[in-house]
Amino acid sequence: MYNFFKLLFLVSLTLTFIMCSLLKNNAQSAVSSPDGKVNINFILKDGVPYYSVLYDGDVVIQPSSLGFRFKKIEPMNKDFVVLDMSTKSINETWQPVWGKTNEICNHYNELFVKLKEETELGRQIHLVFRAYNDGIGFRYILPEQPDLKDFEIISEETLFRFTGNHTAWWIPDEYDSYEQLYKETPLSKAKAVNTPITMKTENGLYLSVHEADLTDYAGMTLTAVKGEPNTLESNLVPWPDDVKVKASTPHRTPWRTIQISADAGGLIESNLIVNLNDPCVIEDPSWIKPMKYMGIWWGMHIGKETWHIGPKHGATTANSKRHIDFAAKHGIPALLIEGWNTGWENWGKEGAFNLTTPYPDFDLKEVVRYGREKGVVIIGHHETGGDAADYDRQIDSAFALYQKLGISAVKTGYAGRIFPNGQHHHGQWMVNHYRSVVENAAEHHIMIDAHEPIKPTGISRTYPNMMTREGVRGMEYNAWSDGNPPEHTTILPFTRMLAGPLDYTPGIFDLTFNRYKKYNRVYTTLAKQLALYVVLYSPLQMAADLPENYKNQPAFTFIENVPVNWDKTKVLNAEIGDFICIARKNGDNWYIGSITDENARRLEIPLTFLDSDKKYTAHIYTDAPDADWESNPTAIKINKYLVSHSDTITASLARGGGQAVRITPATEKEIKTLKDYTPLK
Ligand code: NOJ
Ligand code: CA
Repeated sequence: MYNFFKLLFLVSLTLTFIMCSLLKNNAQSAVSSPDGKVNINFILKDGVPYYSVLYDGDVVIQPSSLGFRFKKIEPMNKDFVVLDMSTKSINETWQPVWGKTNEICNHYNELFVKLKEETELGRQIHLVFRAYNDGIGFRYILPEQPDLKDFEIISEETLFRFTGNHTAWWIPDEYDSYEQLYKETPLSKAKAVNTPITMKTENGLYLSVHEADLTDYAGMTLTAVKGEPNTLESNLVPWPDDVKVKASTPHRTPWRTIQISADAGGLIESNLIVNLNDPCVIEDPSWIKPMKYMGIWWGMHIGKETWHIGPKHGATTANSKRHIDFAAKHGIPALLIEGWNTGWENWGKEGAFNLTTPYPDFDLKEVVRYGREKGVVIIGHHETGGDAADYDRQIDSAFALYQKLGISAVKTGYAGRIFPNGQHHHGQWMVNHYRSVVENAAEHHIMIDAHEPIKPTGISRTYPNMMTREGVRGMEYNAWSDGNPPEHTTILPFTRMLAGPLDYTPGIFDLTFNRYKKYNRVYTTLAKQLALYVVLYSPLQMAADLPENYKNQPAFTFIENVPVNWDKTKVLNAEIGDFICIARKNGDNWYIGSITDENARRLEIPLTFLDSDKKYTAHIYTDAPDADWESNPTAIKINKYLVSHSDTITASLARGGGQAVRITPATEKEIKTLKDYTPLK
C-alpha cells in the first residue's frame, strides 16, 4: 500500500465563520484557525477585495487589497460583487517520505470566496483563505470562463500592510540568486526583498512571509510601496518582455503565506508550507532515501583540485576509488563526483557541458561498479552553467545513462546567466524548467539536489524526490570570498530554511585550510560544524571536507552517527541572529545542536523530553574552554555521561562556537561505568 496517507479526515462542524453581510459590492466574512488565535477577514469594499489578519486579537495585517493587471486586457482589481462564499474544515495527518518529523498534522479552516465583476465582462476570480494555528495562506484562482482565456499578468497586486516598523531579516530581491548574507533592519529599510522575509514585532510576535506551491507562475519578490509605511507589495520576476506570468484559465497562483508564532522556534516547527502543497504523486516512493554523502567537491573550491581535466583533475578513477574507500570505511553511503564530464573548460559559454561523456581519465562504469562493491552509491552531477535550454535537450539521455548505471541521486547546477537569454532563475520559465527536471527525474527514479535553484515552496510534499537545494550563501563562500560570518547560520533557520531543506554542506574540519589558501577560512569552531548537522536540516547532508582531514579525528564519529531523517523536532531555545538550540529524535536516540553567533554564551538545556523511566548516555562534543572561532577553532572536548530526563546540560559556547550532543539509551555497562553529568568548568 502506498504509504503516503494514513489519514484521519475529519470535517469538523466547529467552524468559526461569520458572514456579516452579502450586499452587492460590500461584503465581509471571516475564518479562524482551529485554536481560534489566527483570524483572517475578507472584506469587499465598494467592489475592491481586501484581506486582513489578526493574531490573538492584535492586528497583524491591516486591510490589504488584492488584484491583477494584465497586458492588453482590463485589470481585475475592482467592480466585484460576491457570487458565493463557503467554508470547510480539514483535520488530517499525513506521513512525509522524509522530513523533520515523521507525521504532519494538516488542520485548518477555509473560506472560499467567488467574486464576479459587475461590469459587462463579468469575469470571475476565486479567493481561497486558509487559517492554521501556525499562520495563514491564501491564493487566487482564475477559473475557466468565456471572457478570460489566455492572459499575461503584468502585475499581481497583493499587498501586505504590516502594523509597525518591525525588525526584519531579509535578502535583496535578486532575480537570479539567493546567495546573500541576511540583513537585520527595520522593515522600512527592506525596500525590495526575496522571500522568506522574517519579522519580529514590538510585542515579540514572529512573522514570516513566503509562498507555497510555486507552480507554473513567477517567483514572488516583495517591494516597499512608496508613501505607504510598513507596506510590501508582491512583485513577480519578469520574462524578457517584462510580462510576469503567461497562462490560460483555469489557473491558480501559489499560496501567499504568513507564518505566525509567539516564539522564534515556532516558525521552525511550523508545517504551513508543506501543508499547502498537494499530496505525493509518486506512487511507490520506496526508492527515495535520505542519505549522507561525501564529495569530490571541496578540493575544487579551495584550489587543491580542478573540475576540468589536467594535472590536478579531481574526478579521476583513482581519486574516486580513494574517496569510495574512505566513505565505505566510515559508513557514509554516497559520494558526489563533480567535474566527471567534458565541457568544464567552456564554463560560461552556451552549450558548454556534455552530460553523457566522461573525461578520458574517469571510468564512470568502473567507478559505479567499485562503489557498489563497497556499498557506496555515486551522486551524479549535471552542471549546466545556466544553460537550461541545453539541459532540456540533453536531459533524457543524461538521466537514462544515470538510471542504467543505478545512480539514484543527481546534483544539478545553474551557475551562470540563464539561456534562453533574458530569462531569470526565479521567473516562470525557469520555475517550469526546474519542475520538469524533478518530474523527469522521478520517472528515472532519481533524487534531486538543485544548486542555483528556485526557492523551495513545499513541492517536496508532492515530489519527495526533490530532496534538497542550495539557494543560500553556503559553505563554499568560505573557500573563495570574504566568507560567512558566525551569525549567518543563526539566521538561516528562521529565514531561508522556513521554506525547506538546505544543502549548506557542513562538516569542514580543517577550518583554515592554510595549505591551500592563506586568506580564506571558515568562521566557526569545529564543534559548531558538528552542531550544524542538527540545526541545518537536509535529507541529503554532506560531510564536505577532504577525506584526509577526517582521518584520526574523534569528532568525525558524530558525523558518522548523525541521521538525516527525523521523527521529531523541538526548538528548545532560540533568538534570531544570536543563537539556536534544536533537539531532534530518530528512533530511540536524540540529537541536540546548539550554535551561537560571534558572542560566547551559555545555554541551559533541560532534558525533559527524554523518557522519564530510562537512563541515557550523552555523547557531548563541545567547544573547549579556550576555543574561539578566530584564534583557537579546533579546540574541542568530547565526553560521555550518564543522563536522565531530570538533568539539565549546559552548552558553553565559544565565540562562533557550538555544541553537538548524541543521546542514546544507556547500556547495562554504561549504567555501571559512566559518570553522572557535570558541566565543563
Ligand atoms: C556552484 C555550486 O553551488 C557548487 O556546489 C558547485 O561545486 C559549483 N557550482 C560547480 O558546479
Ligand atoms: Ca547577533
